[in-house]
Parts: sequence; C-alpha cells; structure tokens
Amino acid sequence: MIGRLNHVAIAVKDLAASTALYRDTLGARVSQPQPEPDHGVTVVFVELPNTKVELLEPLGADSPVAKFLERNPDGGIHHICYEVDDILAARDRLKEQGARVLGSGEPRIGAHGKPVLFLHPKDFLGTLVELEQA
Ligand code: CO
Repeated sequence: MIGRLNHVAIAVKDLAASTALYRDTLGARVSQPQPEPDHGVTVVFVELPNTKVELLEPLGADSPVAKFLERNPDGGIHHICYEVDDILAARDRLKEQGARVLGSGEPRIGAHGKPVLFLHPKDFLGTLVELEQA
C-alpha cells in the first residue's frame, strides 16, 4: 500500500543553524524557510536525489514540534512520510486493522499542498507516520 518515502522530518530548535549544517557541512540543496502556521512549524526543505528531509522549527505557542523538543532538546526525527495512491482508501484500511489516525481522521492539506494524515506512533514502532496522497 505505501509507496515512495516522501520525506523524513527532523525537529530543530534553530532553523538557521540547522539549515546551514545541511547546506554547508553536508553540501545539500536547501530551500528558503516556509512558514506553515496551520501546522505550527516553519519548514526548510532539503532536496536529495531520491527524497527530501524537512527541518521543522516550532511556530506559534502550541506547536506540536515544541512539545517534541521539550522531550528531545537536541532535536530528532519527528516523523516519516510515505506516499499512498489513495489516502482515503489507505485510512479506511488502516482503521479496519486497528491503527489510530490522529486528529479528526479527515485528511488536511500538508506542506506540499496535498492531503495528509498522521498515524499514532504507538501503532507504528514508536514512529509518527505521515501519509501523503501521491
Ligand atoms: Co511531514
């Protein structure tokens, strides 16, 4: 059911320093910071040949990334995102199998302008999983 790895998201405290690390130390192509107020983050996209890394800095008072950084002060992998051909069919199949979909269970528009859903980390090996309509 899941397809390509769309991105790995890393929560960071200092977006400018983290962007510089990926750009200057690792030699990657990085985007300009993109505020995503609906998701409580500012994002920098690191473009790799086969996938993306997204650096997430908290934006606003009740950012979910801020809570993550309280538990992981050095930053860390926040979620991984897999593409699916049909996000509603994927959601229904996962719910049938007992997996918990976060929030209302209805897809929201993600950072790439496509519908996304998040799955409970306790159901997926301790990893927050994002599904994105391909
Ligand atoms: Co994501």
